[in-house]
Amino acid sequence: MSGVTIVVGIQWGDEGKGRIVDVLADRAEMIARFGGGNNAGHTLVVEGRKVVLRSVPSGIFHAPKPLLIGAGVVIDLAGFVQELDELRAIGVDVSRVKLDERAHLTLPYHIALDRLGEQARGKGAIGTTGRGIGPTYVDRVARSGVRAADLREPERLAQRVRAALALHGNRLSEGGAAIDAGRLLEELAALSTRVAPHLVDGVALVHDVLERGGDILCEGAQGTMLDVGFGTYPYVTSSHTIAGGACVGLGFGPMAVREVIGVTKAYCTRVGAGPFPSELDDAVGEQLRARGNEYGTNTGRPRRCGWFDVVAARYACRLNGVSRLVVTKLDVMSGLERVGVVSSYVKDGRPVGVDRLGEAGVTPEVTWYPGWSEDVSAVRRVEDLPRNARAYVQALEQATDTPVGWISVGAERSSLISIVDSGRRV
Ligand code: GDP
Ligand code: IMO
Ligand code: MG
Repeated sequence: MSGVTIVVGIQWGDEGKGRIVDVLADRAEMIARFGGGNNAGHTLVVEGRKVVLRSVPSGIFHAPKPLLIGAGVVIDLAGFVQELDELRAIGVDVSRVKLDERAHLTLPYHIALDRLGEQARGKGAIGTTGRGIGPTYVDRVARSGVRAADLREPERLAQRVRAALALHGNRLSEGGAAIDAGRLLEELAALSTRVAPHLVDGVALVHDVLERGGDILCEGAQGTMLDVGFGTYPYVTSSHTIAGGACVGLGFGPMAVREVIGVTKAYCTRVGAGPFPSELDDAVGEQLRARGNEYGTNTGRPRRCGWFDVVAARYACRLNGVSRLVVTKLDVMSGLERVGVVSSYVKDGRPVGVDRLGEAGVTPEVTWYPGWSEDVSAVRRVEDLPRNARAYVQALEQATDTPVGWISVGAERSSLISIVDSGRRV
């Protein structure tokens, strides 16, 4: 059956989406990013080589498939060209990477505005990646953005850039970040030559594949709890990270969607500020960080670590319509005497819903499961998992009411237990 499969993170990002897209890409005709920008850092480990992708979809190691960066993505041209050069340097054919000309450009003034915005928020800073993502989406919605299509027409490009600089000029000058329009346009002219061969009508590409009966694999960025509408606002990113974002980010209708795969770590992490009820500020949190190498792919910041959060996960499964889960990093949890999951939030002795997650006085209730000491990284069949590890994944499946299709036990492409393909259940 042909159609669209969407892969989304169901936590606060870095669930291992890239690693899973790399595996599933085999089954699709095209792989497409639908939102976010180079705030994403998707890590693949292919034949021992680690590659971090920021804007390029994680199907890049599956020649000769087209890879689309959709209209809903914001693109930093300098970063994009650098990423392409790095991939080319390791022998990858990057001519397959296509950019929808409707995508909005993240320009140097967006990066400056991101920094100034964070400074102005002071103690309430979001802890953004500093990549200019929020200001680019603001300009898009305010109709003062610059799109990749504008690169084709230098006069229109100049006019749009100058108009945006007029709009933001005072703020930039006051913050000591004035931008010289002439110099920026020169830089853009140089970048535009590099980017031109990649520009396409993304909607035509998507529908060409679908009408021929092909499959498209959509790669989400960030995580559900960072969604601008449904996440832990205002500690969120500025795009729709949920599965619905794929429709508006690529330009197809919901009826095309066949499957939604929700990726979750076996525990939970978060980078940046904002509520995180299951956070572990202790030796166990430290152990997860060390064993899981939980440091931001882009910024190097230590990721906050905590137990799996059932309340947030159930909410995320609903928001996305998740049909199957992928549980990653199960290997990281070996060696814990007991493992917890946050099964409810409580305030003043009463359970409260996920909408209250950020409120003062809301505390998490933890349900405990026995741990396991065995190294599971070489396990490839679910029946070979230690009993307690398997019981833990079964507990996650039951708690979220969503079947687990894959369990990841390492960063390498092959470190995967496929339950789907074995025809079994956890
Ligand atoms: P993404 O943003 O969702 O693609 O995830 P990131 O790449 O930012 O972070 C996931 C990190 O965990 C990367 O360093 C991966 O190489 C690594 N990883 C993914 N799956 C596993 C796993 O099952 N076990 C271990 N130990 N590492 C994993
Ligand atoms: P991937 O795709 C984890 C977080 C930032 C910050 C908030 C807003 O690799 O999972 P932004 O720069 O988007 O305005 O920052 O969102 N954030 C991520 N956290 N993984 C990501 O992407 C993220 N992208 C943004 O840390 O808290
Ligand atoms: Mg990441």
